[in-house]
Amino acid sequence: MSDAIVEVEGLWKSFGSVSAVEDLSFAVQRGQVYGLLGPNGAGKTTTLRILMGLERPSRGSTRLFGERVTPSSRQFVRVGAMVEQAAFVPHLSGMRNLKLWWEAGGARMKDADLDGALAIADLGDAIDRRVKTYSQGMKQRLGFARLLLGRPELLVLDEPTNGLDPGEIREIRELIGRLSTHGSTVLLSSHHLSEVEQVCSHVLVMNHGRLVADGTVSELIGSAEGSVYVEVDDRERALALLSNLPSVSKVQIQGDGLVVELRDGRRSDLAAALVGSGFRLETIMPTQRLEDAFLDLLAAGEVAQQRAREAEVVS
Ligand SMILES: Nc1ncnc2c1ncn2[C@@H]1O[C@H](COP(=O)(O)OP(=O)(O)O)[C@@H](O)[C@H]1O
Ligand SMILES: [Mg+2]
Repeated sequence: MSDAIVEVEGLWKSFGSVSAVEDLSFAVQRGQVYGLLGPNGAGKTTTLRILMGLERPSRGSTRLFGERVTPSSRQFVRVGAMVEQAAFVPHLSGMRNLKLWWEAGGARMKDADLDGALAIADLGDAIDRRVKTYSQGMKQRLGFARLLLGRPELLVLDEPTNGLDPGEIREIRELIGRLSTHGSTVLLSSHHLSEVEQVCSHVLVMNHGRLVADGTVSELIGSAEGSVYVEVDDRERALALLSNLPSVSKVQIQGDGLVVELRDGRRSDLAAALVGSGFRLETIMPTQRLEDAFLDLLAAGEVAQQRAREAEVVS
């Protein structure tokens, strides 16, 4: 049996004439930190809301812990979800807020994992201060503490660092790191590449509601690894030369220069080959790996969709 905690299969969602999710499928296995990465409007929030039973799919299915999601699914108690802004009573302390919220659900405080939640949220003494004195980042960490009281096996987080400053973002990143060390499975969304690169083990890139690419973060980043940007005095001639080098797997014109993907060679060998063939080498530098991978993937998705649309028109 598969150990998938989340399974999304052939998911479609439209709001009137707006198509938010199109034929999306993916699975999150226990222990993964899985990122849905895509620009605004890609369909990330819609996907997470459907998964949490807050929205009905137009087509397709979602499963949590192997069980099909319905608005009243029993599996939700095993999930800590932050898909909406967490709200607190501002004039009460963080601790009072945690207790109120927990007891409002009919549970007893002694059954909550208060110590574990506080250790991960790391609010220190601030937990006894009024929430109205909290920064945005502290409120977000209190939101995490609240989620963790029930020892969730899965955390579903929609853009957990949205609206935070860089220092706060780092704290949330560290917090998610602690979660995954504690063995939690995490499904989060983000439109920040660097964030996904730093916290996730797996990533699904989506654009216009569709999957563009998925895999481990290193697989996806790896697709742009060893790629180098060069500028020379005669670009066309360099293109011809480099295309024939065994250590080069691909050469493309980009801007004023060339992007060269090295199969196994070193950057210095490339420089030597160019200089040895009489080129004046103006620039040679590694391309910004992940940024490129993400942009390439999005561009590839756009092209594929454009082709699909054209094919539909033709047929
Ligand atoms: N309740 C809704 N009614 C109409 N359109 C919606 C609704 N929710 C989302 N959309 C549209 O669906 C698309 C995907 O939105 P969303 O899932 O919020 O993307 P993301 O979270 O990746 O930014 C967008 O075009 C958005 O405007
Ligand atoms: Mg969103």
